[in-house]
Amino acid sequence: MFLYFLLICQSMELEFSFLNDTEQQMTNVIMNAEQQSFIKRLDDLGKILSVNFQSEDESSQFCSTFYQGVTIHQSPSGFISLVHELAKKDIDELSDDDLYRGYNEKLSAYAVNPEGISIISSKGRVYFIDTNSKNLSIINQTLPLSNDNQQTTQLIFDEKSRYFYAFLNDNNQVVKYQFLNNEIQHKPVSGWTKPNDKFRVIASNGILYSAQESQGLFIYEIQQHGFRLITTITAKDLYDSDSDQFKIVDVAVSDDKLYILDHYHGITQFQIRSTNMTFVKNGKLGLIKYSDCKSFSVRGSTIILIQNYQSNSEIIELFIQGDDYVEMRKIYTKSQLRRADILDDDFAIVRGLHDHKIMLIQMPDQYLDQDAKRLDNYFFSGNLLGVNKFGNTNDTLFAISPHGFYIFVYRAYPTIIICNSNDIDSGLYSANVSIKSTDCDKKTDKTNSLQYCITNHVYNFEIKKPLLSPEQQQYTIYLTIILISIILLLIGCILFHCRSYQIKLETLERSKKKRNFRPPSKSEA
Ligand SMILES: *[C@@H]1O[C@H](CO)[C@@H](O)[C@H](O)[C@H]1NC(C)=O
Ligand SMILES: *[C@@H]1O[C@H](CO)[C@@H](O)[C@H](O)[C@H]1NC(C)=O
Ligand SMILES: *[C@@H]1O[C@H](CO)[C@@H](O)[C@H](O)[C@H]1NC(C)=O
Ligand SMILES: *[C@@H]1O[C@H](CO)[C@@H](O)[C@H](O)[C@H]1NC(C)=O
Ligand SMILES: *[C@@H]1O[C@H](CO)[C@@H](O)[C@H](O)[C@H]1NC(C)=O
Ligand SMILES: *[C@@H]1O[C@H](CO)[C@@H](O)[C@H](O)[C@H]1NC(C)=O
Repeated sequence: MFLYFLLICQSMELEFSFLNDTEQQMTNVIMNAEQQSFIKRLDDLGKILSVNFQSEDESSQFCSTFYQGVTIHQSPSGFISLVHELAKKDIDELSDDDLYRGYNEKLSAYAVNPEGISIISSKGRVYFIDTNSKNLSIINQTLPLSNDNQQTTQLIFDEKSRYFYAFLNDNNQVVKYQFLNNEIQHKPVSGWTKPNDKFRVIASNGILYSAQESQGLFIYEIQQHGFRLITTITAKDLYDSDSDQFKIVDVAVSDDKLYILDHYHGITQFQIRSTNMTFVKNGKLGLIKYSDCKSFSVRGSTIILIQNYQSNSEIIELFIQGDDYVEMRKIYTKSQLRRADILDDDFAIVRGLHDHKIMLIQMPDQYLDQDAKRLDNYFFSGNLLGVNKFGNTNDTLFAISPHGFYIFVYRAYPTIIICNSNDIDSGLYSANVSIKSTDCDKKTDKTNSLQYCITNHVYNFEIKKPLLSPEQQQYTIYLTIILISIILLLIGCILFHCRSYQIKLETLERSKKKRNFRPPSKSEA
């Protein structure tokens, strides 16, 4: 019975499609003196891109749409201070050592494994927070260091060896550690060559990737006693030529795909063949061209890229599938941004220097209502090393600052339509409402993220107002009181007049009688 129209919109190579459910859903709404507003939550349509009212009367003006979002609140357990526990002491009780430590120690990196979170401080202290137990148990130990003030530490977790790897002593040294029965076990790791340039490391499935700017991408196998260099990827591998401008600033792995970000040129994808440790460039996809890139994050089909200019940034969301990609959104911001933490299929937090933004993902720019485009500012201002989901929960986040550990509760709220009859005259109104969303009952292929829905609704409003408005009612009451008072006054006057007339009459009567009884002698005289 239903008719579907597929609208295909060509954009680069991947296509957005719309499933237009032409069946109109009718909703009759009565609004009267008791019930002056109508609220509709749009719960079952995924994320809402736009709500479009069309009517020949005023119904599109008395209804407004408030788009979905995510709220984040600090949880009751709140902030757990790690390096600044000294701050709780009275300043007089602090030794010089305490003072030095308090002012100098900062958390510098963290990594997550299935059991918990490990954080490392600039003084080589490592913390482990168990995310599986209800009680937040925190273990802390100190790693051996030759240099007591680490400017740049990095920390990664490798799921294959089940070790954390800490890049210490200004990165000359790598120490691996794990926690067993609340005790730390650590060992130095060989085979690491300190890069000349800035670098960024990640680990995935027993392989260490080190993005080393103009030196290229260094790929190591993580072995029991150390790292073994497998290969390096340079401009020649990426562009089949020696590009003089070439700076690998970031690297990411998602499933069996390796993504390499060149500051000057953009993103290249490689296929990881883990059986023989080879990396094959995806020439069909080719270079995803973006310049001035600072960092990127990859999760499934979503890539969020940060471009940085002098004092502003651009967030670019890409959707990648097979050998194609499409640009979903491009958001310009006036603040400097660092990196996106993609939390699930629905939202990401884009970290800045001071402010952080909540961004809903997989919402194509060209179909988004202006009001749904807004990015919410994040709950917290200040430096954050990262934001992640806490363990397996779906309502808790943690964020690491240079001084401690925050726990936040987050909740998604739906799009709502609110209609209000306050300023509208009685009568019948009707509006056709067309909703573009990421999901609907009739969506055939739930796994196709690029298929969106259009659902069509008809709202019939019957607005019944009391004959008189509240102010009018008030006036009427006053008027009635005044009228009644006047009438009472009049009655009073009348009664008074009647009484005085009666009294006069009686006096007259009496005087008449008196006259009648006058002695007759006088009149006769
Ligand atoms: C969806 O279908 C309805 C009913 O046929 C039509 O009025 C509307 O224009 C269509 N929407 C789009 C975006 O094509
Ligand atoms: C609303 O939809 C109905 C049925 O498709 C159509 O006849 C009517 O013209 C539409 N009204 C407006 C204001 O678009
Ligand atoms: C670190 O460990 C020591 C002893 O194990 C303990 O006294 C201290 O409170 C711990 N610090 C934190 C922040 O957990
Ligand atoms: C959790 O903490 C409470 C009190 O803080 C304690 O009574 C309980 O035994 C702890 N549970 C575990 C599993 O440690
Ligand atoms: C690596 O393995 C793949 C199949 O997994 C194969 O196609 C490729 O030729 C191999 N490469 C080398 C260098 O052996
Ligand atoms: C996630 O949230 C839903 C309710 O929104 C709940 O039913 C489900 O159990 C939660 N899952 C986890 C792993 O907490």
